[in-house]
Amino acid sequence: MGDFIVTGARRGIGREVALALAAQGNTVWALSRTALDPAEWNFPQIHVRAVDPVRPDHWRLFAEELRAQGRTVSGLVNSAGYLVRKPLEELSPEDFADSFAANATAPALAVQALMPLFEASVHVVTLSSMGGFQGSVKFPGMAAYSSSKAAAVCLTEVLQTEFNDRGWSFNVLCLGAVQTEMLAEAFPGFEAPVSAGEMGAYVADFAQNGHRYFRGKVLPVSSTTP
Ligand SMILES: NC(=O)c1ccc[n+]([C@@H]2O[C@H](COP(=O)([O-])OP(=O)(O)OC[C@H]3O[C@@H](n4cnc5c(N)ncnc54)[C@H](OP(=O)(O)O)[C@@H]3O)[C@@H](O)[C@H]2O)c1
Repeated sequence: MGDFIVTGARRGIGREVALALAAQGNTVWALSRTALDPAEWNFPQIHVRAVDPVRPDHWRLFAEELRAQGRTVSGLVNSAGYLVRKPLEELSPEDFADSFAANATAPALAVQALMPLFEASVHVVTLSSMGGFQGSVKFPGMAAYSSSKAAAVCLTEVLQTEFNDRGWSFNVLCLGAVQTEMLAEAFPGFEAPVSAGEMGAYVADFAQNGHRYFRGKVLPVSSTTP
């Protein structure tokens, strides 16, 4: 039981992770770029905050609030992500910049801002994709998304090395297809074998317990993609 921070909590897997962590009695800081309505969450221990994970100033203010409240961080789940699917000829520099900002830089900014509040046993879980898993099957149109998700994988490995002696744990989950709005927008008609609720419950459990078994690991979480 502790304080968990979840980015990209407005919808999809992030929302389900926040709900599952709260259902298990944790205090959850559900972050979104938009101001979420606390009344929608039904859990008094879920606190919603407007934090755009690509904005260092937002992270600073949020960390300041936690510090002022005397909170410490047990876990961070980087679920926010941005998917643009276009042929390479149509991908703009902004598409690449936005993808890398949301998928790779944001998790680093989160750690930078929150690390003074990390508990010794903190677990940082970043959601990457099978597309960013080295040697996996790749799909056309995913150059910006998959390469930025691969950067998130490498980031996790580097952070584990950099902070290993503090006892902190960093793991990255490379997800296969999960039925969310992101998937439906990128691959209309495709039916994923796993719902957002199922994956959210799995990630919530992993965030609480996975660091007993895994540290600095890149884990494929997929029943379909090789
Ligand atoms: N669904 C899948 O099949 C699948 C597969 C592999 C990996 N993943 C990864 O799992 C995570 C959750 O995915 P999901 O399917 O739940 O997606 P989703 O429903 O689109 O939710 C992603 C969240 O990311 C935030 N976001 C979107 N664009 C952003 C941007 N440009 N900058 C910062 N934040 C942004 C949004 O949060 P706010 O609006 O609340 O800020 C949104 O709620 C993502 O990192 C995704 O890449 C998903």
